[in-house]
Amino acid sequence: MAPCCAIRGCSLHSFGNDRNPLLGFLKIFVTPACLAGSSLTSETIGKHMKSVQKATAFESDPRDLSAKSEESYGELAPEYYCAHRHPTCANFDLLQDALLDTLRPLVSKDGFYVEVGCGKGRLDRLAERATVVLTDISDCMLGLARQRTRGRVRCERMNVFKPHFTDGTVDGVFGFLADPFNHGAFFQNSHRMLSEGGRLVVTLPNHEWAVAVRTALGQPIDQTTFINCQGRKVTAPSITRPRIEQIALMKAIGYDVQSTWALSLNSLAIGRPTPSHHVILAAQRLALDPLTAPLVDVFVAAKI
Ligand SMILES: C[S@@+](CC[C@H](N)C(=O)[O-])C[C@H]1O[C@@H](n2cnc3c(N)ncnc32)[C@H](O)[C@@H]1O
Repeated sequence: MAPCCAIRGCSLHSFGNDRNPLLGFLKIFVTPACLAGSSLTSETIGKHMKSVQKATAFESDPRDLSAKSEESYGELAPEYYCAHRHPTCANFDLLQDALLDTLRPLVSKDGFYVEVGCGKGRLDRLAERATVVLTDISDCMLGLARQRTRGRVRCERMNVFKPHFTDGTVDGVFGFLADPFNHGAFFQNSHRMLSEGGRLVVTLPNHEWAVAVRTALGQPIDQTTFINCQGRKVTAPSITRPRIEQIALMKAIGYDVQSTWALSLNSLAIGRPTPSHHVILAAQRLALDPLTAPLVDVFVAAKI
């Protein structure tokens, strides 16, 4: 399978330059690996919409997803960002941080932006001069954001399935690693919160990577498993989809998906992190180099 494109070394359909995919706005670029040879026409998306609509009917209840996430991430919060204990999280964290410069053109200093499922949070570093609210369902995760931002940034507890912002008032919703709540109801709620033309930016673990690693470990493909500091397994919901199905879901809810691309460890401009055991395991199954294997998919969409 060919590697998906990354910020650096973007192999196809890049309409900007390969360091900043957003310069090529209003175009979706995807890789043959992700689309299995199909091109991204409205006809192709339409076909996938049918399967997405069918699939979402069987998705978990948002109440179950949020209860499970609150419990699991609450327990993991004190150690989630410990690179030694959770090296895959650390690989993913570096990739998201590297994304900030690419996303910066999406925010304006007069805008109002919300980060959902923020963990320790990063939107304040992307939109330094704008009004930003960091939100998470887990008080413990939100505690990390509060600790980091020391009263400089609003931090509010919010379940994405019960958002408390007034409809049409938010200029951008950002969710980094939104897999615990990658459900139609989240996209609907965000759509309501957004102003006309407001942006939704989400990153998700790449589906092919997630399936490869979870299959190798004999785990359900819609869950992620952590071994906590006491050696106990902690599982959390983690919904990933082939990229074309993810796009179809978002389009069905009323988004214009403007840009999507995949990140791999060789996307990082400075240095090369050591791929975690799970990155290497999945890459082996996919017959890819761990440095070029797609790990995180990025979606930039606008409310229409
Ligand atoms: C995979 S972590 C990512 C954290 C952070 N965005 C990052 O990139 O480091 C997912 C986060 O989503 C939060 N979360 C899970 N379900 C949620 C929900 N229903 N509403 C709000 N936050 C949720 C978790 O508490 C956790 O902080």
